[in-house]
Amino acid sequence: MNTLKSMFGWLLVLGVLMSPVLCQDEETIITVCQEEDNDLRVDCLLEPKANYHTDYEFSMSKGSKETIINTNISGIMPDPKFRHNTFVTELEPYGFRLIMMSFTITENTTFICKVTKIQKTLSVELDTIQPCSAISLFLLGYHWLSLLVPLCIVQLWEGF
Ligand SMILES: *[C@@H]1O[C@H](CO)[C@@H](O)[C@H](O)[C@H]1NC(C)=O
Ligand SMILES: *[C@@H]1O[C@H](CO)[C@@H](O)[C@H](O)[C@H]1NC(C)=O
Repeated sequence: MNTLKSMFGWLLVLGVLMSPVLCQDEETIITVCQEEDNDLRVDCLLEPKANYHTDYEFSMSKGSKETIINTNISGIMPDPKFRHNTFVTELEPYGFRLIMMSFTITENTTFICKVTKIQKTLSVELDTIQPCSAISLFLLGYHWLSLLVPLCIVQLWEGF
C-alpha cells in the first residue's frame, strides 16, 4: 500500500515535471527516437477526426523535397526506398508508430505525419535524436496522459 502511495506521488511529481513538455503541442504529438537496434521510431499521437475513414501518412522533408515514407491512403505510394524497410503499427488509444529499420537521419530533417487530413510536423536536428530508452517513460506516460491532461489545463490556467 505504501509503495503504491509513493509510486503515485512519484508519478505525480514526474507528471508535473513533464507537463510543460507534454503540454507543448507539436513536440508531444510527434516524437522521434533511435531504438537500440538502430531502428528509427516515429510516434505520431494524432487523434483521428471523428466520422472519417482513418488513414495515415508519414513523410519527411529535407529542404523542399518531401518523401513519402509509409501511408495507407489509397492511391499514394511510398518512396520505393522505404517500401520494404518501414512499417506502421497502431498505438492505443490512438496514434500511429512508424518504424524505419536500420535507419538514421544524416541531415536536419522534418518529419510530417498526417492522420485523417490533420497534419503535424516536427523538425529534427541532426545529433539531437534521443535513444528511445530515454523517452520510454514518455510512452509509458502515454497511459498517464489522461492523468496529465488536467495538469496541462492547470498550466494553461496559470498562464492566463
Ligand atoms: C489505414 O489504417 C487504419 C488504421 O489501421 C484503418 O482503420 C484504415 O482502414 C486503413 N485504411 C486503408 C485505406 O487501408
Ligand atoms: C541543423 O540545424 C541546426 C539548427 O537550426 C543548425 O545549427 C545546423 O547547422 C544544421 N545542421 C546541418 C547539417 O544543416
